[in-house]
Amino acid sequence: MTDSQGKTSAGPVALVTGAARGIGAATCRLFAARGARVFALDRLDEVGEVAAGIESGGGTCAWRTCDVTSEPDVVASVSAANDRFGHVDVLVNNAGVVLVKPLEETSWDDYRKVVDVNVGGAFLLCKHVIPRMKERRRGAVVNMASVSGHVGQTDHAVYGATKGAVLAMTRALAWEVAPFGIRVNSISPGSVDTPMLRGDVGIESARTGRSFDEVKAEREAEQAFDRWADPTEIAEVVWFLASDAASFVTGTDVLADCGWVAK
Ligand SMILES: NC(=O)c1ccc[n+]([C@@H]2O[C@H](COP(=O)([O-])OP(=O)(O)OC[C@H]3O[C@@H](n4cnc5c(N)ncnc54)[C@H](O)[C@@H]3O)[C@@H](O)[C@H]2O)c1
Repeated sequence: MTDSQGKTSAGPVALVTGAARGIGAATCRLFAARGARVFALDRLDEVGEVAAGIESGGGTCAWRTCDVTSEPDVVASVSAANDRFGHVDVLVNNAGVVLVKPLEETSWDDYRKVVDVNVGGAFLLCKHVIPRMKERRRGAVVNMASVSGHVGQTDHAVYGATKGAVLAMTRALAWEVAPFGIRVNSISPGSVDTPMLRGDVGIESARTGRSFDEVKAEREAEQAFDRWADPTEIAEVVWFLASDAASFVTGTDVLADCGWVAK
């Protein structure tokens, strides 16, 4: 198969949001290394550097800046992906923001932002990617949830609520699109070493007057292996859920949390 840029590849086409860094960037790199054609989206221009790195290594990765909370931006991005590769096989709704604040200090604007990105972004991408998947009667959606959707965490009430919503949306949507051969699943990572988590730990250490390393050690101990995940370890789970190896898996959540919720 040849795409509009003249590149030949038979790998699946994956549209990945939040691709400028962290889990999203690792997912783009892993998918491209395994022959997927990747379309990377992020509100940050750095997504272009991720794509350039993949392309210079011989992989296929197109990109576009996109704010997942803007419907016109999402529509234009999905259309750009379809123009470039003809269709989307895999949608990875990974873009997210965290909010670490006691409830009384949380403003309505704080609340709206986290809900809009974490739930609204996944909703908009699904809304505009799934119609073409339905026409082709195939596709896989992987939504990024969190352990915060499963366990209570101090100062994470709004963030946890958004991830609980992602879990519920995943279950309902899986039933809605199953007649079209489309699977919808989510992943709930534990602590993953990304700019988001380091920022989160920084905020907690400033608020509690403890050192960064002390808070980090406490957060590492929530995992049975007493460490954070590398983003690639989560990308591997995305790859499995997106692949035909997961053909009988839909409407569920994979806890990639190293035993956190099992404790
Ligand atoms: N890092 C963790 O420990 C952890 C744990 C559980 C779940 N998660 C989830 O995994 C996902 C990725 O997190 P990460 O740790 O890689 O975070 P990160 O902050 O390192 O990366 C998130 C990316 O999303 C992008 N983004 C944010 N808002 C956006 C918007 N409106 N439009 C487009 N892009 C936007 C950011 O620019 C950034 O590049 C998030 O959904 C997060 O909630 C992370």
